[in-house]
Amino acid sequence: MINRRNFIKGIMAAAALPSLTVSKSYASAAKVENMLAVPPLLEKTRSGGVSRFSISVQEGVSEFVKGSPVNTLGYNGNLLGKTIRAKKGEKVSISVKNNLKEHTTTHWHGLLVPGNMDGGPHQVIKPGETWNASFTIEQPAATAWYHPHGDGNTASQVYKGLGGLFLLDDENSAKLDIPDEYGVNDVPLVIQDRLFSEDGQIHYLTSRQDYIFGMKGNKVLVNGVLEPTFEAPKGKVRFRILNGSNARTYNLYFSNKQSFDIIASDGGFLPKPAKMNSIRISPGERYEIIADFSAHKPGSEIYLADSGYNFMKVIVSSKKGFTGALPEKLAEYDPADMSKVVASRRFYMNGMGNMVNINGRRMDMRRINEYMTLGTTEIWNVVSRMGMMRGGSSDILHNFHAHGTLFKVISRNGKPPAPEERGWKDTVALPDNEVVQLMASFNHKGIFMYHCHILEHEDRGMMGQYIVK
Ligand code: C2O
Ligand code: CU
Ligand code: CU
Repeated sequence: MINRRNFIKGIMAAAALPSLTVSKSYASAAKVENMLAVPPLLEKTRSGGVSRFSISVQEGVSEFVKGSPVNTLGYNGNLLGKTIRAKKGEKVSISVKNNLKEHTTTHWHGLLVPGNMDGGPHQVIKPGETWNASFTIEQPAATAWYHPHGDGNTASQVYKGLGGLFLLDDENSAKLDIPDEYGVNDVPLVIQDRLFSEDGQIHYLTSRQDYIFGMKGNKVLVNGVLEPTFEAPKGKVRFRILNGSNARTYNLYFSNKQSFDIIASDGGFLPKPAKMNSIRISPGERYEIIADFSAHKPGSEIYLADSGYNFMKVIVSSKKGFTGALPEKLAEYDPADMSKVVASRRFYMNGMGNMVNINGRRMDMRRINEYMTLGTTEIWNVVSRMGMMRGGSSDILHNFHAHGTLFKVISRNGKPPAPEERGWKDTVALPDNEVVQLMASFNHKGIFMYHCHILEHEDRGMMGQYIVK
């Protein structure tokens, strides 16, 4: 057995980024241990035509490896949070009580709400205080999420466990004939890498690389469970995948190489399903996929994997599942209307480590970087320029996320976007020097953030503010 100090030294001495490693738990044909947990729905009460939710941000303890408790943070529990679910047109009111010893905020990532309800760094909730957010859901069905966004302490709070899903429904999602039984064949997967030592503890920022490139782990948690097993019905299963990691971009695929259909991205359904063998997903992004397990014999084992690392086992059961054909059309395709564009801007995402900045500037709570007009549409050209530090590695990417808008990807390096990027997005991966052109509209007033969703970069100032008036 190595002790923790030696383990940390070992990590620090390693030249490369920690890579994902295959856990011993799969090596033996051991019986099922870590079953996938599905976050329950957060209870709501109705009064005065408003759906009311309440969240407590709290400390807790979680066990990822038997006999090794880890101090974690959670919303209404020890780790992560319950799933908030609301419909288009629904008025919601959410009270958030901060039971931590430090300040926090709660941001609704992917929701179109006024700036003062957005839960960004300006909506500070001090220890012991409660913040009330109320807004009306005014956007199409989608898989969104909520997480802390405090000035300078986002990364550590997310890493310790704060994050939850926010699912939106609408008339379209209700009538589409697709798997929609929550937790059965409509299953959220919150994917997060963590740096584990042999004794089952989780470590944060143990090397220079963690500061420079963002925190990467050597193991993956799905819904807070280390390398879990999911029992799938023998049929089509919809996975709502959220990359809730601090810094790692994944290229996800199934170990048997079976293809799957992408049906939705960050902001909702794609115009039509996109058949893929793997999907790149950077921090903060969501993709909904349909995987078909109907051709497998009961008992078959398939893994969800990244770079040769099988981190979630799918066991096909004998229970008959959803076998309907996927709809050919998922959502109205409304092509980008350039005639509405009133301005264009560019965002250069520069540097690494302490040098990160956007257009040469770092986040300053007192400075508004960009001014937008309510009801207008703009073109944004976003480019990552990491410079020499990147050293040619392809799994080190900045990305770009904006609050207060859903955007369309117009092009990447002048080429039309891939099929999976033809729906509404709020976060895009940025391979170095690729010019990503976005079209965004502003329909809510207030101050909103845009930033790299590598949380260590965001905390170090790779963020700016825009105001819509
Ligand atoms: Cu997911 Cu500004 O955040
Ligand atoms: Cu956001
Ligand atoms: Cu970055």
